[in-house]
Amino acid sequence: MAERTLIIVKPDAVQRGLTGEIIKRFEQRGLRIIGMKFMQINNELAEKHYDVHRDRPFFTDLVNYIVSAPVVVIALEGTDAIKAARNTIGATKPSESAAGTIRGDYGLEIGRNLVHGSDSVENGEIEVANFFMDDELVAWERNVDPWIFE
Ligand code: RTP
Ligand code: MG
Repeated sequence: MAERTLIIVKPDAVQRGLTGEIIKRFEQRGLRIIGMKFMQINNELAEKHYDVHRDRPFFTDLVNYIVSAPVVVIALEGTDAIKAARNTIGATKPSESAAGTIRGDYGLEIGRNLVHGSDSVENGEIEVANFFMDDELVAWERNVDPWIFE
């Protein structure tokens, strides 16, 4: 089923010059980019994005990390986009992420895990809407789509 997921190339990944490498992995997987921007997330948006973690002990660190420097946010669309993107990203803890995943290839610590991906179909829709206005999303088809989508 076609789904939408919000990807955030987190501050550590942008600072380390891994933006292109990370985008490449989603692109080559076949997921279609429908929105993308470079921005610095403010506190209000960060707290909204991480609202489910509000009562967790790491909430303040998490918000401070995501607002600390610029990020690249990307809306992706494709078959099973949520699961596919999360598999490409790897387990939350980079030290436990499989080699070949983004976190498994580039990360060590949970608070520097390089990339965010939505965790459910419902949250994918909500998060894309939190980060993109309707007119920032582009409905388009690639000539190659029939070779990726059956
Ligand atoms: P994300 O939302 O960033 O894609 O990561 P995730 O689904 O794999 O992990 P989630 O449980 O949603 O946690 C969100 C982010 O919070 C940080 N975290 N720190 N110190 C800790 O125990 C802890 N647990 C989670 C991580 O940066 C994680 O990506
Ligand atoms: Mg999550």
